Amino acid sequence: MSSQTPVVLITGGSQGFGYALAHSLLTHGFAVAICARDKCRLLQAAASLGAYGHVLAVVADIGDGDQREALVQRVEYEFGRLDALVNNASTLGTLPLPPVDAADIENLREVFHINTFAPILLLKRCLPLLEVAVASIAMSISSDAAVAAYPCGDGKNGRPVHCGTSNRRGVSGCYRVRAGGDP
Ligand SMILES: NC(=O)c1ccc[n+]([C@@H]2O[C@H](COP(=O)([O-])OP(=O)(O)OC[C@H]3O[C@@H](n4cnc5c(N)ncnc54)[C@H](OP(=O)(O)O)[C@@H]3O)[C@@H](O)[C@H]2O)c1
Repeated sequence: MSSQTPVVLITGGSQGFGYALAHSLLTHGFAVAICARDKCRLLQAAASLGAYGHVLAVVADIGDGDQREALVQRVEYEFGRLDALVNNASTLGTLPLPPVDAADIENLREVFHINTFAPILLLKRCLPLLEVAVASIAMSISSDAAVAAYPCGDGKNGRPVHCGTSNRRGVSGCYRVRAGGDP
């Protein structure tokens, strides 16, 4: 890989959207770092993606501060640069979704932690790398569940499970503001 190759860090790249995005970026000449908690699935994903370009796979739970730190350090060590951060990993919390009157506050805290606070803390940790890149971007994948509560099986409205991801617009927005772009 050339030192000019742009590098993208995608949280939750072992399957789903994160994997598809990693695949697409690799075929367009980017290098990619992916993370996930399940080592076996992550390594399988990295092995398939490796056919398309330079992939770094790091087992990390983005909710854990030490693991976030180790993740960014591995990216820095492997590539020496970071051009984009994609906060993709998220959680729905307890399933099936409980109605709001049965919502458990500890579970809601975990949902907000993974969907909102951890992405902000990861962005904060990545800023020194992003800010020296020629053109950098931070983005966070949101959800339709961020704008309306999913219905529960009993016909009641579910708790707003992704209220955390709706705030991710703010996570990316704060980077755009710092970078001098539109919020
Ligand atoms: N699927 C949909 O219909 C849909 C609709 C609207 C929005 N979205 C949004 O799109 C994004 C991707 O969804 P998806 O359906 O592709 O998800 P998915 O298939 O469930 O994949 C989630 C990925 O994130 C990883 N992950 C989950 N929690 C993590 C954590 N704490 N730390 C690190 N990695 C973690 C998972 O691996 P491990 O479990 O091994 O950690 C996996 O690689 C999410 O933000 C979701 O809210 C999805």
